Amino acid sequence: MVRRSLRVNHVLEKELLFSEKTIQGRVTTLAEEISSDYEGEEPLFIGILNGVIFFFADLMRAISVPLTMDFLRATSYGSRTDSSGVVRITKDVEVPVQGRHLILVEDIVDTGLTLSYITRKIRAEKPESLKICALIDKTERRQKEIAIDYCGFQVRKGFIVGYGLDYKEHYRNLRDIYVIKG
Ligand code: PRP
Repeated sequence: MVRRSLRVNHVLEKELLFSEKTIQGRVTTLAEEISSDYEGEEPLFIGILNGVIFFFADLMRAISVPLTMDFLRATSYGSRTDSSGVVRITKDVEVPVQGRHLILVEDIVDTGLTLSYITRKIRAEKPESLKICALIDKTERRQKEIAIDYCGFQVRKGFIVGYGLDYKEHYRNLRDIYVIKG
């Protein structure tokens, strides 16, 4: 049963930002770049749950080099639309990362607080290298500088939903990406 507090009270007006076709084209290009950069290696991809699920699934299947994958769950927003600034790891990486070529995969970088915390934590475990791949780099509210090595799209502002991204846990399953109006 869906709890009342999680319901979106009315259907929010939203505007198409990136179509499924545009997203898939960009994912293919990113996968080609990554495959070329990691030729001869077996990188470890770590998807940061939950928003990353569809991007991660599509990206992994488009990469041509051998790879391994794991997941980490970090949360900073709860069900609010503003970052609380507090990052909590609720599911940690389970495979050893020492000596591995790591690529952290995110759906969106907003304030940068989540990735700043995660990269600091994971660097302490001494990977051989660490790069960041994010589908969306949203710049307006950035508080921590994050070097994104593989970026799908840059947007300045707006509340973005679809293709894994949620508004109060809704809209994750949309195939396209939208910006909420108003
Ligand atoms: C979202 C997103 C990133 C983070 C980015 O996660 O997936 O992990 O916020 O925001 P930041 O740059 O301001 O830290 P969220 O905590 O909403 O969880 P979710 O992935 O389950 O939606």
